[in-house]
Amino acid sequence: MSKPNAWVTLATNDGYAIGALVLAHSLRKVATAHKIHIIYTDGVTPNMLHQLQSTFDDSTLVDVLDSKDEANLALIQRPDLGVTFTKLHCWLLTQYAKCVFLDADTLVIRNADELFERPEITAAPDMGWPDYFNSGVFVFEPSEETYHKLVQFGLQYGSFDGGDQGLLNLFFSNWRELDARHRLPLIYNLCASVVYTYMAALKRHGDQVKIVHFLGAQKPWLKGGPTPLPAFWALWFAIYDEKVRGTVPSDIEGPTSDERRQAWEQGRPDYQGRDAFENIMKAIEKSLS
Ligand code: UDP
Ligand code: GLC
Ligand code: MN
Repeated sequence: MSKPNAWVTLATNDGYAIGALVLAHSLRKVATAHKIHIIYTDGVTPNMLHQLQSTFDDSTLVDVLDSKDEANLALIQRPDLGVTFTKLHCWLLTQYAKCVFLDADTLVIRNADELFERPEITAAPDMGWPDYFNSGVFVFEPSEETYHKLVQFGLQYGSFDGGDQGLLNLFFSNWRELDARHRLPLIYNLCASVVYTYMAALKRHGDQVKIVHFLGAQKPWLKGGPTPLPAFWALWFAIYDEKVRGTVPSDIEGPTSDERRQAWEQGRPDYQGRDAFENIMKAIEKSLS
């Protein structure tokens, strides 16, 4: 029997675990044929871990890897992201033939199983510096050897942003020169916080978007309000409301229903209840056409 493939995500605390739960439900909603695996650390509380284990197909406890690189993390204004070195553990999941890593702040809104046909390393350009790839969505092949090389490389050269993205882009430094199969269209990693700078392209391609990424310090599970594309936040909350709220130990401090209602102005679909996700998707499609 050949090995299966898997979507892989990471959570080192309960906040990101909520993101991971919504992500896993989004993958089920689009009927993926592949396994869904989470790597987590002991920063996730037991109750939350129970929810993760009943939602994901499998899970792996790993140690925190932290770059502790305060100087470079300050450059991206994200002192919290040193722990993203923990992501490297995903290369140890050798029970799978191929994997797609997804940040816990992503949401899969259309089936994207064709990603498993891509080779290592495949990713989309980073919106801040498109010569580098964004490490919130990437295709990789688990291998102990690659894992050890990555860790060695990290110890020797560090990371220019203090997080995994800086390290992975140094390690896979020829990504930009690789053939087209290695470069994903933005519909596989649409940064909800950035793309408003190019609404014309969004209007043209928005109805093909498959994976949304809530990149940046604002996250749907944190107080602070939606990014410039509130419709995508509304999709996240539709899944959160339907599948996750109530199952998590203490409710998260997200926007209130009123705040969400204000945020969601276009189309005014019935954004609550069972059909919320489908209604919002239809409204997005309508507003883009
Ligand atoms: N992450 C985590 N705990 C943290 C910070 C990050 O588990 O304290 C994981 C999580 O999967 C997250 C990913 O690392 O999605 C990358 O961090 P984030 O998405 O916040 O970075 P951004 O995409 O905003 O730059
Ligand atoms: C990025 C990526 C994220 C990564 C972070 C730190 O912005 O979206 O996945 O963890 O940089 O390198
Ligand atoms: Mn992210």
